[in-house]
Amino acid sequence: MTSIHEEAARRRKELMQQMEPDSIALLSAAPQCTRSNDTEYPYRQNSDFYYLTGFVEHDAVLALIPGREQGEVVLFCQEKDKTRELWTGVLTGPEQAVSRLLIDDAFPIGDIDDILPGLIEGRQRVYYSMGKDSRWDQRIMDWVNVIRGKARQGAHPPGEFLVLDHLLNEMRLIKSPLEIKLMEKAGAISAQAHKRAMAVCRPGLHEYHLEAELLHEFVRSGSRAPAYNNIVAGGANACILHYVENTAVLKDGDLVLIDAGCEFDYYAADITRTFPVNGRFSTQQKALYEIVLEAQLQAIKAVKPGVAWDEPHNVTVRIITEGLVRLGLLQGNVQELISRGAYKAFYMHRAGHWLGIDVHDVGDYKIDDKWRLMEPGMVTTIEPGIYVAPDNMDVDSKWRGIGIRIEDDVLVTRTGHRILSAGAPKTVEEIESFMAQARAQAVA
Ligand code: GLY
Ligand code: MN
Ligand code: MN
Repeated sequence: MTSIHEEAARRRKELMQQMEPDSIALLSAAPQCTRSNDTEYPYRQNSDFYYLTGFVEHDAVLALIPGREQGEVVLFCQEKDKTRELWTGVLTGPEQAVSRLLIDDAFPIGDIDDILPGLIEGRQRVYYSMGKDSRWDQRIMDWVNVIRGKARQGAHPPGEFLVLDHLLNEMRLIKSPLEIKLMEKAGAISAQAHKRAMAVCRPGLHEYHLEAELLHEFVRSGSRAPAYNNIVAGGANACILHYVENTAVLKDGDLVLIDAGCEFDYYAADITRTFPVNGRFSTQQKALYEIVLEAQLQAIKAVKPGVAWDEPHNVTVRIITEGLVRLGLLQGNVQELISRGAYKAFYMHRAGHWLGIDVHDVGDYKIDDKWRLMEPGMVTTIEPGIYVAPDNMDVDSKWRGIGIRIEDDVLVTRTGHRILSAGAPKTVEEIESFMAQARAQAVA
């Protein structure tokens, strides 16, 4: 299996082949963010920068200069510094960066203002991620203005500025074997974390007790952080789609929805399971759960090359609308209810999103205004849900406050799909028997 640095080198080459002639691409590492005084938030590298370097230090800039004879790949990074390294850890330094990251040249970040305008000078086009970080936009313009200031001495400032994101997003959308392996690992750790939370769940615990189980499993497995703010939502809290307080008491007779995934070596998992706090589904909970499960299973089945990206979503809409009519939560003709979006009172989000280095990963969903077709190597979540708001007076009170979502991570393969997040119980029978067994073991 190739290393992350070999893979980053391959990606840089691929990107440079797609860049317009006579151009340079500039990418910045994520800044370190101060929490207060001399305390920082945990550092996480910028996703694009990581994708092209595998380098996890801050204060770094990457320049890709296709066709430059003295070297196409140039990095600016922090210098080695004994005193700083004593306090905050080992730095790679420009010298070692060249061999470790398989790049052509590296300079101290402190010299960037002197060196970078010279690398930009004479190039017609500058690719960078525009308009996302005003400080980065300003730095690019400052370097360009240095060249403009020398125009009368014959310097050639660039004339075009191009958004880098599109080329990179399309590359990131198709996952390599190494990326798939990392996503499988993130999925396996996260599935295990869900099992752990399910096994200890009982009435009277707080939502954060289950969150603690998730985090324990993540960290002990080598994940350094959740891939997003994890949701542990008991009862009607599950009807708040991005509930992250996780502080309420878990009540006997309620469901609990856990939407949690870890990040492993910069790749995300995104899994949701919903299960009864006391280990047994009520009649109403089970009825709604079976609809969401059927929608999820059928939508996963629809994932294969050549299928339009919105097809799994359409499958979930049809099955959920039919189910809600069958149970009396919606009344009328299914096709007509779908056409006017009546299901949106209960199912207000889409069935999935791209997944990768970011939990809501990059990549267009439409091409020329048409839903794009799935291709091998893409990874999407499939995550239908039904949420009956506690104040929904249009339905019988027995349904109110039930929120259910089931989510897995699905890789498009050459012949169909593969689930990267399997492992946590999902059917009613699997969940009930897993929880009963866990209880029996706890008592024994
Ligand atoms: N965990 C966020 C999402 O499911 O999209
Ligand atoms: Mn999720
Ligand atoms: Mn998701």
